[in-house]
Amino acid sequence: MKNVYLIDHPLVKHKLALLRDVATKKCLFRDLLGELTTIVGVEAMKNLPTKKVSVKTPVVTCEQEVVDAKIAIIPILRAGLGMEEALVHLLPFADVYHVGIERDEGSLKPKEYYCKIPKSCADIIAIVADPMLATGGSAEAVIQMLTDRGCKTIIMLSIIASPEGINAIHKKHKGVKIYTAAIDTGAGGGKGLNEKGYIVPGLGDAGDRLFGTRCKG
Ligand code: PRP
Ligand code: URA
Repeated sequence: MKNVYLIDHPLVKHKLALLRDVATKKCLFRDLLGELTTIVGVEAMKNLPTKKVSVKTPVVTCEQEVVDAKIAIIPILRAGLGMEEALVHLLPFADVYHVGIERDEGSLKPKEYYCKIPKSCADIIAIVADPMLATGGSAEAVIQMLTDRGCKTIIMLSIIASPEGINAIHKKHKGVKIYTAAIDTGAGGGKGLNEKGYIVPGLGDAGDRLFGTRCKG
């Protein structure tokens, strides 16, 4: 699949198995989500532009490279908050634009309730963070907000994606590069979503598992 990058690594598999486990409590869940975000995030950032700079070491002055881009991390509330800290550690100079989106449990359509994306995003590289790419509705809504504000380079970082979610994004935004630790197809017939719009096998409701709530279902 073009512009889809599945991070295949034994550590990713190991941490993902623990993350999915219903017996994993929120404290470990948070740590695992952060660690997976770091691994997937490093891979997603490997093509960031760099510029040459001069660095004086204790031994000599030499030419080095540093990242040369205006970057914004866009965590989708709530579960994207579980990826924010790891991303800010990787990119301490990045801005963070929070967006609150909640799926309507009946229609599965995204409902926006909070948005801190600035009016113009023409000059940024946007990294959208949400661990679950299910129908793709929430991520697509954020990607649309960014393109409406002039953003040309958008990277989608997820941990578990469904084929349906990936297709929903690429139907409207072919150029968005999607990085993920897993593409789940456990719903039968190559599908990733069950009748309630949950990813199968997935991990359940990421926001509830991260914050210890049980608001749905
Ligand atoms: C979850 C998840 C994604 C969204 C994915 O959020 O964190 O944002 O669902 O589903 P989609 O691809 O079908 O849009 P949810 O709506 O449960 O809100 P929450 O994080 O506040 O619990
Ligand atoms: N949101 C989640 O948190 N999990 C799913 O499986 C689907 C949407």
